[in-house]
Amino acid sequence: MNTLAIEGGLKTVREALPHFQNAAGRTFDETEEGLVLEALRSGCLSKNGGSMVKRLEREFAAMVELPFAIACSSGTAAVHLCVAALDLEPGDEVIVPPITDIGSILPVLWQNAIPVFSDVEPRTMTLDPVDVERRLTKRTRAIIAVHLAGQMCDMDSLRSLADARGLTLIEDCSQAYWAEHNGRLAGTIGDISCFSLQQSKHITCGEGGLVVTRNRRLFQRAALFSDKAWPRDIHTLGAARFLFLSQNYRMSELQGAVALGQIRKVKDVVGRRRHAAELLDRLLADVPMVNPPYVSPKTKHSYWLYFLRVKDARGAALTQQFGEALVAEGVPAWVRYIVDPLYRSPLFTKPATYGTSGYPFSEWGTQIFEPGLCPNAERALDEVIAIHWNENLKDSHVHQIAAAISAVASRYSPAANSI
Ligand SMILES: Cc1ncc(COP(=O)(O)O)c(C=O)c1O
Repeated sequence: MNTLAIEGGLKTVREALPHFQNAAGRTFDETEEGLVLEALRSGCLSKNGGSMVKRLEREFAAMVELPFAIACSSGTAAVHLCVAALDLEPGDEVIVPPITDIGSILPVLWQNAIPVFSDVEPRTMTLDPVDVERRLTKRTRAIIAVHLAGQMCDMDSLRSLADARGLTLIEDCSQAYWAEHNGRLAGTIGDISCFSLQQSKHITCGEGGLVVTRNRRLFQRAALFSDKAWPRDIHTLGAARFLFLSQNYRMSELQGAVALGQIRKVKDVVGRRRHAAELLDRLLADVPMVNPPYVSPKTKHSYWLYFLRVKDARGAALTQQFGEALVAEGVPAWVRYIVDPLYRSPLFTKPATYGTSGYPFSEWGTQIFEPGLCPNAERALDEVIAIHWNENLKDSHVHQIAAAISAVASRYSPAANSI
């Protein structure tokens, strides 16, 4: 058996792979350069006064065939726009998944509402509609359906549940540009939906976010929220009036210029990511101990990450070892994605935000943030290695990744260890 790189052997992947943090792994070209220059030469770099962000909003709305889009300063801001649009009462509850970026959840707390964690379906690691139903109370107002790593939630069931119970369905598509559910694009099934344009995403302008909706009322409140709740219909500064507590989440014209170039490429980016992922799926067919990401038959995955699942009775410790060995072989990955479900973060277990008050949980919280709250999520996280996926991976790169996984799997397989 060959010596693994982590044990002092040679790396399986010896060339630098395209990655979201380098130019080889991004799709910037003369399109973005031209638009940035155009924005600079216009002399106005603010959305209020410029045209780039407005063009981005119009073009993105048209691409998803919805009437309204709002660009903003980050994905977290985009989630915040969606939540703020609902005008919640303090203590209202919003269902959230335990496996996502914290940016999916922080805005609920900013609005003095309570995030209620619901467990996930073990294979997709996205919200399990049956568990969501169990966690509804008379204070529940909304569900944030996070499409994880490119795999969409079971949107038929979540949509039916939201409709039956009068809840707002928010889609967080930050990790799932151009994924599909029964032929419908991510972001077009919920009442209001959001995307992140942060550096690691399918498309990026460094930091940024987008919100889309067909609901005029939600659009109007979200748009106001992003701009100090300042209706811009009055043009004298002295006559300005500010309608409710809000933020300045405006996107700049420079971000807008890059984002405008990027949205035009998203379909192609997703197509190339799918091609590379499906090749790796095939190459792993006979490799022991590992499973490729599960793709629900109703969906088309868009592969922000490639969730490799390590199936082994030795559990989390083995996944950790496997992941570290894989990274040493030259495969960029987050070993175990997030290590713990988000409810295990100090933000929830030791509230330290509003002095010592424990607010808002002290006032309205019902969940106890202990292990066992969402057992499927805990078990699934013990099995996951998140390989950083990229549209510029060539077939030869994918073959090298497969060879690295295979080498590590042979080294750690129960058969190898019983010799
Ligand atoms: C699912 C999800 N939601 C929200 C966010 C927050 O986005 P940002 O980092 O752009 O604020 C992210 C980003 O990492 C994400 O993956």
